[in-house]
Amino acid sequence: MDDLTWEYEGYHPAQESLRESLCTLGNGYFATRGAAPECTADSVHYPGTYAAGCYNRLTSQVAGRQVENEDMVNLPNWLPLRVRTAGGTWLGPDSHRLLDHRLRLDLLAGTLERTARYEDEEGRSLAVRQLRLVHMADPHLALLRTELTAEGWSGTVEVESALDGTITNSGVERYRSLASRHLTDVRTGTGKPDTIWLRCRTTTSETGIGMAARTVTDVPVMTTDAHTPERAAQMLGIALADGRTVTVDKTVALHTSRDPAVEDPLDAAVDRVGRAGDFETLLDTHRTAWRQLWRNAELDVRGGVGPILRLHLFHVLQTLSPHTAELDVGIPARGLHGEAYRGHVFWDELFVLPYLNLHFPEVSRALLTYRHRRLERARRSAQDAGRTGAMYPWQSGSDGREETQELHLNPRSGRWLPDHSHLQHHVGSAVAYNVWQYCEASGDTEFLHTKGAEMLVQIARFWAGLAGYDGALGRYRIRGVVGPDEYHDAYPDAARPGLDDNTYTNVTAAWVLARALDVLGEMPELLRRDLVERTGLDPAELDLWHDVSSGLHVPFHDGVISQFEGYGDLAELDWEGYRRRYGDIRRLDRILEAEGDSVNRYQASKQADVLMLGYLFSPAELGALFRRLGHEVDDALWRRTVDHYLSRTSHGSTLSSLVHGWVLGRARRAEAWTYIHEALRGDIADLQGGTTGEGIHLGAMAGTLDLVQRGLTGLETRGGALRFDPVPLPELSEYGFSIRYRGHRGVQVHLDAGRLSVSVPASDEPPVDITLADRTVTVAPGESCVLTLPERRQ
Ligand code: BGC
Repeated sequence: MDDLTWEYEGYHPAQESLRESLCTLGNGYFATRGAAPECTADSVHYPGTYAAGCYNRLTSQVAGRQVENEDMVNLPNWLPLRVRTAGGTWLGPDSHRLLDHRLRLDLLAGTLERTARYEDEEGRSLAVRQLRLVHMADPHLALLRTELTAEGWSGTVEVESALDGTITNSGVERYRSLASRHLTDVRTGTGKPDTIWLRCRTTTSETGIGMAARTVTDVPVMTTDAHTPERAAQMLGIALADGRTVTVDKTVALHTSRDPAVEDPLDAAVDRVGRAGDFETLLDTHRTAWRQLWRNAELDVRGGVGPILRLHLFHVLQTLSPHTAELDVGIPARGLHGEAYRGHVFWDELFVLPYLNLHFPEVSRALLTYRHRRLERARRSAQDAGRTGAMYPWQSGSDGREETQELHLNPRSGRWLPDHSHLQHHVGSAVAYNVWQYCEASGDTEFLHTKGAEMLVQIARFWAGLAGYDGALGRYRIRGVVGPDEYHDAYPDAARPGLDDNTYTNVTAAWVLARALDVLGEMPELLRRDLVERTGLDPAELDLWHDVSSGLHVPFHDGVISQFEGYGDLAELDWEGYRRRYGDIRRLDRILEAEGDSVNRYQASKQADVLMLGYLFSPAELGALFRRLGHEVDDALWRRTVDHYLSRTSHGSTLSSLVHGWVLGRARRAEAWTYIHEALRGDIADLQGGTTGEGIHLGAMAGTLDLVQRGLTGLETRGGALRFDPVPLPELSEYGFSIRYRGHRGVQVHLDAGRLSVSVPASDEPPVDITLADRTVTVAPGESCVLTLPERRQ
């Protein structure tokens, strides 16, 4: 394993689902898990192909209730390619001897290579080498090359190349009792002699899907059709001579009726596969596209954790590539890599967009536009709930309605429980924060003053309407919500779900209100008038926003910031006792529920909640925000708060160690690395116990990149300057990256041994202001600066 490849040796059924997730190949338009082409879905293997934004809704019966769920659809499987020797059965890793087996993911080229040696029933050995790609330049194409070599024998083999439409969404065990067949009207056929096709549609969203596969070999073959219902297949009879390698190339095209400029997805797929170049041409153009991507995403961390960061970057780019900029999609929490969370879009974009903003701003803009297209729906949701403004859903899918499941299964107790996580209205603030960050980093005032301002205004309006004035307290309060820590969804024994005055919610709401006022104050008069008319804003509303943004309640207890009002009254948990009894207590909520208890009774959090504020805001900005709300949060108070929650958090989400690592980098540097290291290992070591096989944790992956880029450098794009406040860690003290900042492409940033260097490439753009705690320097295009960093305490 080096910086540029990721490898797995041997065949281990227990690890297969993890490897399939981490060996997924994708291009932003679609992705396919790294499953073996000869395997179908079973308890070990799970081939999955997902097109970004392709959802379907089904109704299921659970716990005596009808529930609806919208899922990212597992599309027909294009991978199937299996081999049998004359008189033998189809070779497979679970039925035949594998003499050796190896997977090698080439991160630079975007290819997955698999080498295996099979032994058939007669003891004959067949070497198989496969190389696959999901094309990064032409997002509708994929390619699987298979090389077969008979070792010590000659004879015929049969190769079957297929497109399988018998697929269901069954990749997540917890969802298995739910309806799972999203594809219907599956038809198959043969086009040209070397081309098979499959068409189908999703049952309720009526998305048409067309797939075509062209299979060619470098030797003469006998080809026969072997279609079975819902599975297009072709059989190739190939004569193998001892030691002479035969090559089988399967090129696949995928279109859906969601594609622009396409009349019929099947015609488009058949046409595309017929015109596609040969293997070498496709490989070459694919590699070029990846080379360009890496140039724009450069992150140079040599040795140590460098390879993990590169793997994370690889998966972020495969989920959200420049092709994403052309689509109407959000950020699926588990990538296009598996079915956990049903491909839904959460607040996780908060951990992803800040990274993308500084590399692929057009992709960020498209992802924010996904939110803007669903603003109308968010307004309707607010209206239906008797609220004003826009209430963005906690989980979003195709049309922006609330997609959070009504019931969730506790696998420990086997009970279906009501799910109140839709009360996480703080997702709206995440949308607003991302609008602001994107515009600061890109300088895209056109977006800020149009779609961005409209979202900010409607989200601010939602908060101002939700906040009620408490005369006794002399403060505004937001009641009945759930914060980022999903463990607490109600007060102990309360009849109704929700908590009051979640600090994270209130402080971010105050920030949104203040930013909305800023934008309204700064935008060109003409645009402002348009916006005011379109949204029906009146001056009294702005006065209210001003009051709420400085008058929201923030609870405190025992000299620390409380997670919510009354948090300090909750019982202390016997953490040691639970760790002794259960070992892994990340999902403490499930453990306690299975015991007949409830995590709501304890000062125990799933993930960072109050501390998230230290993730979103620099110490200076956070201090100012609290001051606006009438509180002095000095360094000592913040450190006490960090200590308090650190010892009361079970890290049941991969986002938790990331945020703690980020925050500790500034508050308790000596301990930061433990958390950062955990965040880095989250997926490669499957720390959340079996969840990586259900899809990568995209927020945590992108978050680790941003941790290097913004967390450890203290990089902010606030106020028209590039601000740095680095906290070098001994484990990660030298690294470099290039960013795109306000029209400057390829600004190089390098940190080492107490020095920061920044080079701005030559261009016609204005100079860049670089600000450290004690000075500002201006760097003109074509110039660079080397700055000695001020000494840090700690
Ligand atoms: C976390 C949420 C996150 C979701 C999707 C949950 O486990 O608690 O914060 O948004 O996963 O990644």
